[in-house]
Amino acid sequence: MTETDSPDGRIASLIEKLTLQEKIDLVHGDRDPAELATGYLPANDRVGIPSLSLVDGPMGVRAVTATAFPASIALAAAWDTDLAREQGEALGTEVRGADQDVLLAPGCNIIRVPECGRAFEYYSEDPHLSSRLAVATIESVQSAGAMATAKHYVANNQERQRHAVSAEIDERTLREIYLPAFEAAVKEADVASVMASYNRINGTYATEHERLLTDILKDEWGFDGFVVSDWWATTDAVAAAHGGLDLDMPGVPVHEWQESESRIHEAIGALPDAAPKGTLAELAAKPWLPDGANPNLFEGSVFEDPLREAIEGGKVPETAIDEKIARTLSQMDRFGMFDDEQPAGSVNDPAHETIARRVAQRGTVLLQNDGVLPLDEDLDSIAVLGPNAETAKIGGGGSSEVDPTAAISPLDGIRERTDSGTTVTFERGVERIEEPHDEDDGALGFSVPDAIDDALSGDDEEPSIDAAARAAGSADVAVVVVQDNASESEDRSLWLPNEQDRLVAAVADVAEKTVVVCNTAGPVRMPWAGAVDAIVETWYPGQEDGHVTASVLFGDVDPSGRLPVTFARRTDHYPASTEAQYPGIDFEAEYSEGVFVGYRHFDNADIEPLFPFGHGLSYTDFEYTDVSVESGDGPEASVQVTVENVGDRDGYEVVQAYLGQDDPSVERPPKELAAFESVELAAGEETTVTLDIDQRDVAYYDEDGAAWTVDDGEYTVSIGRSSRNIVATETITVADSTIVE
Ligand code: BGC
Repeated sequence: MTETDSPDGRIASLIEKLTLQEKIDLVHGDRDPAELATGYLPANDRVGIPSLSLVDGPMGVRAVTATAFPASIALAAAWDTDLAREQGEALGTEVRGADQDVLLAPGCNIIRVPECGRAFEYYSEDPHLSSRLAVATIESVQSAGAMATAKHYVANNQERQRHAVSAEIDERTLREIYLPAFEAAVKEADVASVMASYNRINGTYATEHERLLTDILKDEWGFDGFVVSDWWATTDAVAAAHGGLDLDMPGVPVHEWQESESRIHEAIGALPDAAPKGTLAELAAKPWLPDGANPNLFEGSVFEDPLREAIEGGKVPETAIDEKIARTLSQMDRFGMFDDEQPAGSVNDPAHETIARRVAQRGTVLLQNDGVLPLDEDLDSIAVLGPNAETAKIGGGGSSEVDPTAAISPLDGIRERTDSGTTVTFERGVERIEEPHDEDDGALGFSVPDAIDDALSGDDEEPSIDAAARAAGSADVAVVVVQDNASESEDRSLWLPNEQDRLVAAVADVAEKTVVVCNTAGPVRMPWAGAVDAIVETWYPGQEDGHVTASVLFGDVDPSGRLPVTFARRTDHYPASTEAQYPGIDFEAEYSEGVFVGYRHFDNADIEPLFPFGHGLSYTDFEYTDVSVESGDGPEASVQVTVENVGDRDGYEVVQAYLGQDDPSVERPPKELAAFESVELAAGEETTVTLDIDQRDVAYYDEDGAAWTVDDGEYTVSIGRSSRNIVATETITVADSTIVE
């Protein structure tokens, strides 16, 4: 192989041929002439560089009509990396089927506060679980021929003031909680790109953060892909160029972007070029712009004229731009883009719908059940209630929205599943909940509120809680489908909107049996939990909603999900519950809870959650026997446990291993998830599960030594069915303190 044949040589010789202007054109996006891509890097035909199309997002392909997969939190709730791989491969195949090259997913942020408006786009409150799912997703998306993007790097844990807020975090917390999923994405899954987030970290914008982008991501972890900005996130050309940003997106002002954010922006975009479009767009958006919104929304890329001037003025060396381009081009080369070797993919494969259904079923968490579920086949009547029960809950609002290939609502799913002997009635009970996509709204969520489209609901009658209660009172079972309406760009309340809590309470009062099905982005308050017979969390199930709901309610499948987030009894029980912590004061959010995020906090503060991390019931029962741990002198250990399905139905069990140091020299969480395994067991079947505990799962990040450290001493391994349902504990002893990778 000659030097120009090797990937590096080939890229270097291409870059050598580029003029400065052509280089500038390769570090920022532009409009996609096909109006499909979310982000687009135009081709350079002169030297032979193809165009690069980037598309959202975690739950399906945004560009075209595509399979709407369940929310990422639903996938996480299945605690199954093989399943994540199946979905990832389907997703990657759809990206290619839509003729796109890069998927702007997965979302690797930790669910620090339950209010996070994008909780549904993320996996969990736990770095181990999030890392395993990120790796499985990235590897499988990329094996289907699409590049994946680990986003939003980093500490983009709230939507409120997301363009301005600074996450004030200490190094240890960053390393132990917020960085691991990104680190695993790079080191294990070889992710092609990483998206720098909107927010600041300790005062510096993520897009300009040299320590995070260059020192840690590129130098320490060896990331050789490209760093792309979040859309309109970059504010300073020189700082971002030095900091380590490689590609600024989308490169055009909001009113010229292919997916215009509102009709006003569309109209402004269509004005003649001489018009002061940026000023007009800014004025039009002003009343709806969130606090501290990014001013660059209305301007072209800072990696265009400002960067060229910085290079010409000697503030940024041209070689720095060469390196940025080399990163993007070498990923394009890796994925066969220079040799026409990308797989064709497909978006209309019915197998993908089956996967979407299976993931949503497996991710459904049976939170509570007094025996009413699974429903009896011979019911005479079911009352289906709830503001949007006749609409599928496809997803949340913002950039992850997918135009689904099909959709079935819970009401239709239940009707389809029952025979003519069962009467199914429907009452909305309370006002329909406006879905984010019911309005003319875009990813940034600030568009002019349009007249609300009442026609969508298709009913003229005022919904009434009394009518719903009457229907519930005369049915064998009442199924209340409740939901929130989370969206990117804004955080959510933990209280269900539109008096749904009153609806559930009124129904529970009169119904013989009440089942609540929750379509929520994450935890919600459940003041009625003690009054209802069963609670099923289906998150945002995607286009197969109705089939999933009906199959779980009637027991066609075991609801095998386990919570990837803690559900608290009270809002102030969550770890970040002061204003200084969340949403922050003067655009600074203090991450003063440190590593005590999620169940780490509930355990440490000894607070009883409503439903703990890892919790989920099943229609069958499992028994654990013969627990043993093998370990040498070092920190690695292997846990073995025999699990038997002792019930009379087939089901899934998720075996969880937590680790805690008995007498730590630094403050550490009482226990942290170290390994897990999901197993499918037929009734009566048993199997032996092996859980390997890696040295990194035993270590903590020592800030003084700047190293992952395992102290000598005793550690307790807790084997359980949830973080609060521990069935066995074992001790491992580490003989000598060690530094680990
Ligand atoms: C979101 C990203 C998304 C991008 C492009 C931003 O608003 O934060 O997650 O990939 O838009 O749609």
